Amino acid sequence: MKYITYNEKTNVFSLRTNHSMYQMQVREHDTLVHLYYGANVGDTEITHRIISLDRGFSGNPYEAGEDRTFSLDVLPQEYSGYGNGDYRINSMEAQHEDGSDALHLRYECYKMMEGKYSLKGLPAMFGSAEEAETLEIVLYDRISNLKVHLLYGVFPELDVITRAVRIENQGEKTVTIQRAMSMEMDYPNKHMDFIHFYGRHTMERMMERLPLHHGVQSVESKRGTSSHQHNPFVILCDKATTETHGDCYGFALVYSGNYKCEIEVDQMEQTRLTMGIHPYHFSIRLNTGDVFETPEVIMAYSDAGLERLSHIFHDAYRSNLIRSKYVNTPRPILVNNWEATYFNFDEEKLFQIAKAGKDIGLDLFVLDDGWFGKRNSDYTGLGDWVVNEDKIKGGLPKLVERINGIGMKFGLWIEPEMVSEDSDLYREHPDWCLRIPQRHMNRSRHQLNLDITRKEVRDHIMGQIFKVMDSCNVEYIKWDMNRSVDNVYSMALPAERQGEVFHRYMLGVYEMMEQLVQRYPDLLFENCSGGGGRFDAGMLYYSPQIWCSDNTDAVDRLKIQYGTSFGYPISTMGAHVSVCPNHQTGRSTPFETRGVVASAGTFGFELDLEKLTPEEKELARRQIREYKETEHLVQTGDYYRLTSPFKNNDYVVWQFVSKDKKESIVNGVMLRNEANPHIHLIWLRGLEPDQYYKDMASGAVYTGAALMKAGIPLPVGIGDYQPITFRFERQ
Ligand code: GLA
Repeated sequence: MKYITYNEKTNVFSLRTNHSMYQMQVREHDTLVHLYYGANVGDTEITHRIISLDRGFSGNPYEAGEDRTFSLDVLPQEYSGYGNGDYRINSMEAQHEDGSDALHLRYECYKMMEGKYSLKGLPAMFGSAEEAETLEIVLYDRISNLKVHLLYGVFPELDVITRAVRIENQGEKTVTIQRAMSMEMDYPNKHMDFIHFYGRHTMERMMERLPLHHGVQSVESKRGTSSHQHNPFVILCDKATTETHGDCYGFALVYSGNYKCEIEVDQMEQTRLTMGIHPYHFSIRLNTGDVFETPEVIMAYSDAGLERLSHIFHDAYRSNLIRSKYVNTPRPILVNNWEATYFNFDEEKLFQIAKAGKDIGLDLFVLDDGWFGKRNSDYTGLGDWVVNEDKIKGGLPKLVERINGIGMKFGLWIEPEMVSEDSDLYREHPDWCLRIPQRHMNRSRHQLNLDITRKEVRDHIMGQIFKVMDSCNVEYIKWDMNRSVDNVYSMALPAERQGEVFHRYMLGVYEMMEQLVQRYPDLLFENCSGGGGRFDAGMLYYSPQIWCSDNTDAVDRLKIQYGTSFGYPISTMGAHVSVCPNHQTGRSTPFETRGVVASAGTFGFELDLEKLTPEEKELARRQIREYKETEHLVQTGDYYRLTSPFKNNDYVVWQFVSKDKKESIVNGVMLRNEANPHIHLIWLRGLEPDQYYKDMASGAVYTGAALMKAGIPLPVGIGDYQPITFRFERQ
């Protein structure tokens, strides 16, 4: 074991990555205390910051006897329980059969392993013995015989540490887990800012940075999805931290359902962060021998600002979270018919769009919603995954053969977790949806959530979908999810297990997705939940890309894609050129600008290609050609946010640099033109200062230092929303 050590003299555990270090210690009364997370501090054990004083109203455990300075209420801990004198937010809460809920989690033992631990039925980072090491620390509640295994995955090269928790009931009585966070992080007196990503449908992942305040602040979702409203990725950073300087910590939950991230600044100015499944409507009954595993949190630390933090997450996801073969290989560039036709199409219209796509150099035609059952509006048909041959005459195999025949791949939209009341499935199995007895259902988009906790429901739906997929050559799937989970009650579970429904629902979804990717290993799989309602690390374990937002407006997308880039690789963001005036905002932007914005993602088109003018067709051809030439930068390069759309109303600029620093592209949008304009400069990043770079458009050659230190002027154009495009190659 090279990166995880245990000092038997001092009882200190140290986890080390190339640029970070994490320490904890077993102290008095077998208490596992958190010591440090941050920059590498060599072999110093950071025990000197723990100073015990007698604190009023902070009680002392019985074992402490007359020592009134030992209190769990003020000690930094690794994983704290309720009911033992720590009044802050805690990691775990459980109820015992006698109605009591105390947990005294004490250190018992540890184990180290080569390679990364895995979690049953849950997405998580993977790592071979060469890539990762695992530490497992066992905490123990002596009265209930509950064992709590703290799992740590250490990825030295990636600068990432993962955490998860396995809870095992070794007692004779049933224990009900009411709160089981995936991790806890305690910081000493340190004034920090909290960065999070809030939003709404069509405006996801807006960045907000606020100073932490005393008391508890949180972001969460109770919608059964990770949600449009708050993303399960957060950052804590020093007040002075910027894109390029300063300390920051990122926490990403690898889970797509209800979650809560709470941060408390306590009476001693200490900060505690917990992250995991939301305790709302959550209770897991563990009988003797039962085990519960929490989802994983991926943690990273950067001492070089937010940009470096993003690079860590981007690299980690691309190498050890996303499993698809497409993660680092060119993806087929697609045209999706949704904004072109909505529900109103027939097989000929679809073929004509595909043909127009082929003509401009596209690779894949995606048939979106409306191809199945009686799905002619969003009031009907969900649950009936049978091709609607009134619309697609001759059936899907014939259409797919025609499309394949002109050299285009074919992809399909599905929404497996839902049912319409007006569907054969609902008429046959009204009890297959989530529904609270005697209460009216809460509808949303006029659809209901299927009871995905039930195996027969999952099998039925996937059986139907597999039948369609097996009947023709489907090379891409878009899995959608268009409402929050509600009416949370499963007819198949007893009253005392209803608190498990939300989590069992997620396990069911993950099982269905696993079946899909195992059965079709070459499939290009895109996730979606009304755009970015389930844009999380959990989903990326199954699909290399997620439809970033239902908002395709190039200007709004600047904020959405900027916010998303903090925690997620650019190559995971589905981004399409759509028609103007834009369907969501009514705004008109130049075709070129729409191309530039969509190229900062997984590029595609979503409009009626038959209606493009000859000039637009030519522009589209160029965009596709150029994207293919530079896609490797988006997929494997480093991304730099040169300006923030939340601070700069005049222009937004970003940059990609290849890992070998030989190529770079700089793209963006001039938002507002002014008369008698200023000359705006931007300063590039990530280049080799001593090397020469050629501006491929003008032929001018600069040193990397010149581009980074002196900057380059942005184009002076006419009109608003003009595109910015530079391409540099090292000489
Ligand atoms: C969701 C998706 C869209 C589209 C529609 C179809 O809103 O995000 O891209 O697929 O559903 O109903």
